[in-house]
Amino acid sequence: MKIRQTTFALAAIAGVSLLAACGGSDSSAPESEVAPAAEEVVLDNGMTPKEQIELRQGQLKKLGKAFKTISDQLKASEPDMAAIQAAAASVPVESEGMADWFPAGTGPDSGVKTDALPAIWEEPDLFTEKLSDFQMAAGALATAAETGDLAVIAPAFATTGGTCKSCHEKFRADD
Ligand code: HEC
Repeated sequence: MKIRQTTFALAAIAGVSLLAACGGSDSSAPESEVAPAAEEVVLDNGMTPKEQIELRQGQLKKLGKAFKTISDQLKASEPDMAAIQAAAASVPVESEGMADWFPAGTGPDSGVKTDALPAIWEEPDLFTEKLSDFQMAAGALATAAETGDLAVIAPAFATTGGTCKSCHEKFRADD
């Protein structure tokens, strides 16, 4: 926290001296005139790009784990229905607010290691479409799991998995 405040203050000082050097006294000059280094950036939500990227990767890992659990159980000779239901119920919870996980400034340009492709910010409507396809399918999967009927759960799982894949193909590197 302390480091961030310091770098922020330095960026502000740099901004002031830049304006002075230009002979400008216009305090309404856009902030973008000062291009801060990666570690000085703070997003509108108060997080650094690194914090935001690590947060979403952590949540996505949880989704991956939940999906592996369901997939493993569906293949098992005696599927553990309670495990399937818990995992299916966790997906909508862990992916809540996913639309806010990709603010501008958290792509590969941030200098932080991320598999998020620039296409996310170049084609935001398509990204939002893939995201809502996923959220609808995940909700339906959680509801299907409540039936405890594998014949209902398996197709809902396949549909949801398809929405993960569809987004990854377009918007995630290494896929
Ligand atoms: C709307 C797009 C989208 C949807 C839907 C989506 N993902 Fe992803 N996923 C991404 C992006 C983009 C990344 C790369 C994030 C990064 O590296 O910053 C990613 C990364 C991941 C990762 C790697 C996390 C890490 O860094 O180790 C896993 C695991 C994952 N997703 C699983 C899933 C599963 C499972 C689903 C469906 C239940 C899903 N995702 C749905 C876009 C999506």
